[in-house]
Amino acid sequence: MNILRYPKSSDRSLKAWNASDELIIRTVLEDNVDIEDCILLHDLFGYLSCHLNDHKPQAVITFASQEFSIQKNSENNSCSKIQPKNILEHWTTSKSALMRIPKSLGLFEFYLARLCEILGKDGVVYCGFMTKYFTPSWLKLAEKYFEEVNQSLAHKKSRLLILKKPIKSKLNYIESFKDDNDIEWQQYLGVFSSGRIDSASRFFMEHLEVPTGDIKVVDVGSGNGVLSKHVQTKNPDAEIHLVDDNSLATLSSKLNIKGDQIHHHFSRNLDFLDDNSCDLVISNPPFHFEYELNLDVAFRTFKDAYRILKKGGELWVVANNNLAYKPQMLKSFDNCVVIAQNRKFNIYRCKK
Ligand SMILES: C[S@@+](CC[C@H](N)C(=O)[O-])C[C@H]1O[C@@H](n2cnc3c(N)ncnc32)[C@H](O)[C@@H]1O
Repeated sequence: MNILRYPKSSDRSLKAWNASDELIIRTVLEDNVDIEDCILLHDLFGYLSCHLNDHKPQAVITFASQEFSIQKNSENNSCSKIQPKNILEHWTTSKSALMRIPKSLGLFEFYLARLCEILGKDGVVYCGFMTKYFTPSWLKLAEKYFEEVNQSLAHKKSRLLILKKPIKSKLNYIESFKDDNDIEWQQYLGVFSSGRIDSASRFFMEHLEVPTGDIKVVDVGSGNGVLSKHVQTKNPDAEIHLVDDNSLATLSSKLNIKGDQIHHHFSRNLDFLDDNSCDLVISNPPFHFEYELNLDVAFRTFKDAYRILKKGGELWVVANNNLAYKPQMLKSFDNCVVIAQNRKFNIYRCKK
């Protein structure tokens, strides 16, 4: 099998799987685990889905980019039997689940709680991880949801947590918090900036200039919708498109911002938007992909923003000031300035 990363990364050394994925496959086959219809979680590029294709795995889709990767890799490797499942839909009851442990503790808890709803008493979960990322918080969470929690031996610097005897417990998948203005925010576990408004977003909102009138705005990597809500407050006539790769982010922004002019998109890119159609693109772009420092999404956003903006339209971006964004922005925009700066962040404005 040849499993590739989609979208292709500018860093060729990045792989589409790691030793923990190999260890999961090897262990379940050696242990003769019943993996028919097994549930796969956080299989970001499709390594597990493709290798276990014959067992009709249920690949739970959290991210739009993950869905695209699994589909591309399954086509490339002639895999036909993978069942994609939405994160909140009813997954078919199964005897086993296999997971790459996500970096986000909130998302790990979300997955564990969902599994306890689906797995029977004899259900077993194999969770793979690279040992350098191990944190005791994983054990705490695992023990909250499973009576038996064991660790495998190490293989190429990876290990498994093996979880048995699910504990039936009720988790509230949505958490809420109040911001400094006493406004309540709701978001699913595993969505960016749990329990507070991110400090970069706060700084951004202090400086963002929102044009008046009938404008079309795109919020790339919209998370719980905080930046779009700010734009809506400043200009209730604005048509706002919130775009996020994480389905739980899109479900969260739907809880926080509503209106006829508001459109939520679960999408990994801006391909659905026409050239020269928007007035303002705003973003607090991701600079990590799990444990990797990864600027691919930010760089693609600058390029796409140029395509979708009308002449005179503006891209506004907030970023940590150690990230070298300006040279990339200047590849598309010739007018690009730092509008505001503090100890941690820069705010860029690029005009088309
Ligand atoms: C730094 S957070 C910003 C969230 C929110 N705008 C805020 O300011 O609090 C970046 C967001 O980008 C999303 N994201 C990651 N990759 C993406 C992609 N390819 N397309 C769109 N959004 C993406 C993440 O899910 C996350 O919600």
